[in-house]
Amino acid sequence: MLLKDCLAQAILSLKNSGITSANLDARVLLCHVLNCQNSYLYAHDTDSLTQDQLTTYKALITERQAHKPVAYIIGHKEFYGLDLKVNSHTLIPRPDTETLVDFALSVANSHHYQSILDLGTGSGAIILAIKKYLPNAYCMALDQSHQALAIACTNAKNLALDVDFIHSFWFDRVDRCFDLIVSNPPYIKEHDEHLKALNYEPQSALVAKDNGLENIKIIVKDACKYLNQGGCLAIEHGFDQAISCQQIFKAHNYTNVQTIKDYQGNDRVTYGFMEHICKQ
Ligand SMILES: C[S@@+](CC[C@H](N)C(=O)[O-])C[C@H]1O[C@@H](n2cnc3c(N)ncnc32)[C@H](O)[C@@H]1O
Repeated sequence: MLLKDCLAQAILSLKNSGITSANLDARVLLCHVLNCQNSYLYAHDTDSLTQDQLTTYKALITERQAHKPVAYIIGHKEFYGLDLKVNSHTLIPRPDTETLVDFALSVANSHHYQSILDLGTGSGAIILAIKKYLPNAYCMALDQSHQALAIACTNAKNLALDVDFIHSFWFDRVDRCFDLIVSNPPYIKEHDEHLKALNYEPQSALVAKDNGLENIKIIVKDACKYLNQGGCLAIEHGFDQAISCQQIFKAHNYTNVQTIKDYQGNDRVTYGFMEHICKQ
């Protein structure tokens, strides 16, 4: 079968299954099978696929028809210019989260921060992006999922980035203070309608009790014991959680509490500074 016919058939199958990004997905999956760039598909559209390639491609299209995310099918995802391995134990890093990385890099540079902790690291997306652009900072990251940590470690190794990963339930096993603490914790409300579309991703990475605020409350409350004087805590949250987050930060005596919008104009990251001396 010719490449262009195969592609057209795949796009049609995906469209018929309600996949709105059918064109892009069919191309990404074909590139994965042929181990090539998108431009190759245009230049070689009258080449024939081998039987093996065709069989593999059809299997991937079937997975996508079942609404499995492309990143899980091909096993990796680009985030902040880094190619990251992902699997069913890790959240797929989102473009929204690049807002948190942008802020972390900017505040670390302006305040000459030397040590950074990422809580709930998943694939390692946030801390690896930070370490890439702040190579001299000491970076640590933790997660409650051993399987996610294994992926984060692999990503760090593949990217030759030196980050300490530890298994910890939030601050349980953290034994030092940091200049900057960042987190993209689970913050989706239980029974939120958006969860239906996210059933391939680990629910423990997404959902939080107390209207989605349970983890944010724990982190904001405990982080003050693990921040150096003048240190900063920055947390990603839902588009409708900025006011609640700001109240939580202020209730725990953080100063200069502010919220930043993501590239789509939604409130996404709230941060504050801790002016006291760490008591750890
Ligand atoms: C929303 S995901 C974020 C993953 C990654 N940081 C990112 O932005 O793509 C939340 C992560 O927090 C982890 N997590 C959830 N509860 C935790 C806890 N109590 N202690 C440590 N990590 C936790 C989950 O395993 C998951 O990897």
